[in-house]
Amino acid sequence: MTTTSDQSVSDAVTAGAHATEIARSGASNLRGAAGGGADPARVSAVVGAALEGIRAAIRDHKVTYEEFDAFKQWLIAVSDTGEWPLFLDVYLEFEVEKVAAATQQGSIGTILGPFWLDGQAQLDSPATLPMRDDEPGTPMILAGQVIATDGTPLAGATVDIWHTDADGWYSGFASKPPAGNLRGVVRCDDQGRYEIHTRKPAPYTIPLDGPTGQMTQAAGWSPWRPAHIHLLVSAPGHRTLTSQLFFTGDPYLGNDVASADKPELTLDPQPTGNGDQVRSDRDFVLEPEA
Ligand code: DHB
Ligand code: FE
Repeated sequence: MTTTSDQSVSDAVTAGAHATEIARSGASNLRGAAGGGADPARVSAVVGAALEGIRAAIRDHKVTYEEFDAFKQWLIAVSDTGEWPLFLDVYLEFEVEKVAAATQQGSIGTILGPFWLDGQAQLDSPATLPMRDDEPGTPMILAGQVIATDGTPLAGATVDIWHTDADGWYSGFASKPPAGNLRGVVRCDDQGRYEIHTRKPAPYTIPLDGPTGQMTQAAGWSPWRPAHIHLLVSAPGHRTLTSQLFFTGDPYLGNDVASADKPELTLDPQPTGNGDQVRSDRDFVLEPEA
């Protein structure tokens, strides 16, 4: 993904605005209701600690009025471009996910990120994700089984999957891929088995022309996410697993701007012998709902 074209300028704002719209509706908050109640002791503890962290940065680094004003301008730009969901999901969601994961049994998960979309194609396994006739990239099969923590196969399980195309663009957020491209909700068979035919995604940079990307680059940090496939694995009566899968050998593993990669989530797809097609098998274990 490059940053020099007008394309990416419009994409940063488009992606930010759309992600904000989704977050505002609450549709992106799949792990709990928004709000959470306003217990004054908890507000004081959490907000107080967050503010004290910023005050400590000001004291320790002798932040000047010029820098304070630059910070205000930056915050305003994050709002103006709709980048709050992008910024929060890159720099903070992984810590929230760690807290949530501490009470989750079964397969390891990671962050949701800002680019899940509701209402995508409903497909029966084996399924081919919606894609263009000339969809670029290595053909890839992802297959496996959804089971419960006690080993029971989960009939009625679904695998909601979304990822970038081979150029690093998400449909629905970048203007290049058509709506619904490389997104789908796949119904498993009566043994919880799924098989999904898609294209291998590419590493992704957060939008570089918006305030989140500009801050990232101003700090000299890498703006890259390793290539990844997003998944929401669900079954009736079970806690939904939010996860991502990465690829062995990806140059950005261990240096994910969103701090969301985990060694347990790495795939090593193998050739199937059918042209340049590759395949990975991955089972998911879901815990019963409390
Ligand atoms: C962002 C992008 C992703 O693909 C992701 O998984 C998480 C965050 C982002 O641009 O904020
Ligand atoms: Fe992503």
